[in-house]
Amino acid sequence: MRVRKAIIPAAGYGTRFLPVTKALPKEMLNIVDKPAIQYIVEEAVASGIEEILIITTRNKSSIENHFDATPELDHMLEIKGKDELLAISKGVTDIADIYFKRQKEMKGLGHAVLQAKAFIGDEPFAVLLGDDIVYHEKPCLKQLIDVFNEKQGSVLGVQSVKKEDVSKYGIVDGLKLTDRLYTVNGMIEKPSIEEAPTTIAALGRYILTPAIFEILETTEPGKGGEIQLTDGLIELAHKEEMFAYDFEGIRYDTGDKLGYLKATCEYALRHNELNQSFKDYIKELSDTF
Ligand code: G1P
Repeated sequence: MRVRKAIIPAAGYGTRFLPVTKALPKEMLNIVDKPAIQYIVEEAVASGIEEILIITTRNKSSIENHFDATPELDHMLEIKGKDELLAISKGVTDIADIYFKRQKEMKGLGHAVLQAKAFIGDEPFAVLLGDDIVYHEKPCLKQLIDVFNEKQGSVLGVQSVKKEDVSKYGIVDGLKLTDRLYTVNGMIEKPSIEEAPTTIAALGRYILTPAIFEILETTEPGKGGEIQLTDGLIELAHKEEMFAYDFEGIRYDTGDKLGYLKATCEYALRHNELNQSFKDYIKELSDTF
């Protein structure tokens, strides 16, 4: 079966970015000229996804507004002859079929994914986490979909992280099959260095079979008192074959202040209007500091 639908959980408080996230969803923080969540939606669309469900919560309506039509703005741009800007605005409105659902209680990532059960139905689907932005010519999600099409089993997007960072991620216990592919035997959510079986971390991209929903319905709260997606995945890996794919690309943790600044800086260096002037500025700056 083809992977046509994706979920983007976007209900978190964004506490790592306080105070800016008191009133502004962290998903709406801009990286150069687009909100972070637009990069995620663009990756999904470029990977062949047709329908997207964004799981939000209270105080996140600016995400819905961003992907909605903006007739007054578009009309103004049209009469002023600002065709390029009009195309940018309309491009966001028409990007994909996007649906929204509010998670009424913040019970964890596993609980957020469970909110999509009716939307997904009985087909394989993708999950993209908003904090992880991946830059590569072949979209990260497309890389995972290609593995799913070949293996017909759930696929986790992974990369190796530094030992001291294992406690930030879901860590995979697996066997290497080929250069980039592993079978998943187990996982641990945010282990200590001593507990971690490997340094292979799940980095915000998943292709899952719908069997995960039944599992999440009975998954008990785990680490941090939250219903963890990782705990559901452990059970799924016991029931079905599961794979992890070491995807190609530069991955930015935009939920972290330094990661966000790196993403901003590097996307500015790639931006077709800004690249040269920003590069000059960075050089100048490194001489000053
Ligand atoms: C979540 C998952 C974790 C995964 C991480 C990727 O954690 O629970 O397994 O490795 O995303 O970014 P969070 O960063 O939301 O705490």
